[in-house]
Amino acid sequence: MHAALLAPSLLAGDHANLAASAHAVSSLGISWLHLDLMDARFVPNLTFGPETLAALRRAGSTLFFDTHLMLAEPHRYVEAFAKAGSNLISVHIEPDYDHAATLARIRALGCQNGIVLNPGTPAAAIEHLLPQVDLVLVMTVQPGFGGQPFRRDMLEKLRIIDTWRRERSLNFRLEVDGGIDLVTARECRTAGADTFVAGTSFFRAPDKPAFAAAFAAL
Ligand code: DX5
Ligand code: ZN
Repeated sequence: MHAALLAPSLLAGDHANLAASAHAVSSLGISWLHLDLMDARFVPNLTFGPETLAALRRAGSTLFFDTHLMLAEPHRYVEAFAKAGSNLISVHIEPDYDHAATLARIRALGCQNGIVLNPGTPAAAIEHLLPQVDLVLVMTVQPGFGGQPFRRDMLEKLRIIDTWRRERSLNFRLEVDGGIDLVTARECRTAGADTFVAGTSFFRAPDKPAFAAAFAAL
């Protein structure tokens, strides 16, 4: 079983000073930073682009960039994000493109890869891809906006994917994203998740060192 890992989402950070928000993460000894990319097509919102990642690198960030592409045509942008400094690039299963080839391309670019499922997408939709991924991201809200309530009905999907992982001796990380706080993270941990995206709960936590320590102990 993978150790529990917290990946704060920069979406809930200070968009006028993202470098400071990234620094608030690394200064706690947290190694992952979750970056949410939206194109106003796959989801009804916009965030930032590869240049933002490159600028964070130029500002000195050595965090592991866990890059979540909520894009209608993610295959067209994986190279740009790899060049901009992504360490892991995850792409959704829902749009129509060559998923297997895109996942292979991400690895060929020197990054880890991930496949993502929306709440309405069953686990079976990604089953055939499991042998070729480094991470599976189960969305626990409909993507597009931070601050939404956790969908408890996603726990069963986590259990199914975790069971496949154990039965097939696979080693991918199982990540959850949306409405994650200490309470919901514990439920996800019990269902098999090991990687926890936290936007609102992290950036609003009054005692961030205690928050990070509690996640590390999950
Ligand atoms: C949702 C994004 C999430 C978001 C989570 O569309 O994919 O990463 O930042 O935000 P919270 O933790 O506030 O639900
Ligand atoms: Zn995300």
